[in-house]
Amino acid sequence: MLPYQTLLSLQRGTSLALPQQIAAGLINLIRRGVLPFGARFPGARQLAEQLGVNRQTVGLAYEELQAQGWLVQRPRRAPVVCTQLPEAPGQPLPVAIGQFPARAAFQFPKSDAAPAVQLPAHPSLVLDGGSPDARLAPHALLTRNYRRATRGVARYPQLLGYAAPNGVLRLRQQLARYLHDTRGVPATAENVFVTRGSTMAFFLLAQLLVQAGDTVVVGEQSYAEADAIFQNRGARLARVAVDEQGLVLEELEALCRRQPVRLLYVTPHHHYPTTVTLSATRRVRLLALAEQYDFIVLEDDYDFDYHYAEAPILPLASAAQTGRVIYTGSLSKVLAPAYRIGYVVAPAEVLQALAPIRVLVDQLGDPLLETAVADLFADGTMHHHLARSRQQYQHRRDVFCAALQARLARWFSFVPPTGGLAVWGRLADTVDLPKLAQCCRELGLLLSDGRAHQLLAEPRPMHLRLGFAALTPVELERSVRILETALRSLE
Ligand SMILES: Cc1ncc(COP(=O)(O)O)c(C=O)c1O
Repeated sequence: MLPYQTLLSLQRGTSLALPQQIAAGLINLIRRGVLPFGARFPGARQLAEQLGVNRQTVGLAYEELQAQGWLVQRPRRAPVVCTQLPEAPGQPLPVAIGQFPARAAFQFPKSDAAPAVQLPAHPSLVLDGGSPDARLAPHALLTRNYRRATRGVARYPQLLGYAAPNGVLRLRQQLARYLHDTRGVPATAENVFVTRGSTMAFFLLAQLLVQAGDTVVVGEQSYAEADAIFQNRGARLARVAVDEQGLVLEELEALCRRQPVRLLYVTPHHHYPTTVTLSATRRVRLLALAEQYDFIVLEDDYDFDYHYAEAPILPLASAAQTGRVIYTGSLSKVLAPAYRIGYVVAPAEVLQALAPIRVLVDQLGDPLLETAVADLFADGTMHHHLARSRQQYQHRRDVFCAALQARLARWFSFVPPTGGLAVWGRLADTVDLPKLAQCCRELGLLLSDGRAHQLLAEPRPMHLRLGFAALTPVELERSVRILETALRSLE
């Protein structure tokens, strides 16, 4: 008798029951020729003894093998392996025991993109690119609204069927109103298309508007995900410098004179990653250039809700009347990134063309979540939440900037931001940023190693974007102390 205790390694405590494991293991042996066609199966009692299971377990495994056509019962004799591979239409494939193959058996382009962020298992401090504090979001009210939305399913099961790819009408109406009231964007529901985050919005828009070989203009430093989406579409990225007033328009104009530009991706409220605001004068000039040189302006307004000093300059989309500006936004900075609610605001005919593209990657959004979020806007919860978080974040910005100035002035220079959720600054030439990030990580603080924001002309990473909103004032103080300790230890 074969050494089944070695050939069939059973794993107790997994979701796959023992009879299924034994059956799958025996099928494996038949497939590999270890148990040849027509060979006798071991007697149920002996096999049970070898495997340390009871006889009924083996009996159940044999029943499964017989049902799948691998085992042939014979009266008063041991069962045998079938004489050819069973053809069993509708049967599930036998489950292989062992590990999923580590390597693919085919060639494909390997991604050199940065791996997804790996957060540590233990809670530690994170100064990321500018996330909100998810602890502040009205999760309980959102859950209540979600539950209420699910109650409607009993009466209208079609609520959970395929629906319009541009999002639930109620949310589009609420977003149109919010964008109009808070920033003067003259949109109605038909100008709003709900996506799973603005990343999806960029992706869909790139599919629709950008062809291989088109020139897409971005800032000298820009949002890497958006860059990658345009490049993935085959666009050529042209980079334009950014100074303390935002994009340098002389460079943009010089570029437009040299070649056709299809689209400009811009973050005017707070340029990503430098946080500078595009000045009012440059906004007027930018819109004029878009008309003159016939390019699309994609305005990514990812953090308009956060301004602390004074009333913000309104988005380009609030002034643009010629159908050339496409506006995107997101609730990632308002509620939390994981809810995946973003939106595009554009002329209705653009959104109609976007719908069939969305269907190809994601039939529709999440109607229940969208309804629940719409209710947060409708009953004023979102308004209160925003007012409260704006106040908290302003305080956190002040605490953070004061701590940075008090402890890190020797190594880190920055201008306190007038809005947004992050500080942008430059490290002294003596600081090795990747080493600093590594040292901070060992001390329990995660921050970027700066490679994502390194300029071509820079010999090594020198800039840091430090999000302050997700941490409490106490946590912020602790983070700055860790940074100080790390910087001292590297001197
Ligand atoms: C510049 C920029 N745009 C957009 C987003 C929002 O992305 P999403 O809505 O897909 O979460 C972010 C998030 O960090 C961002 O930094």
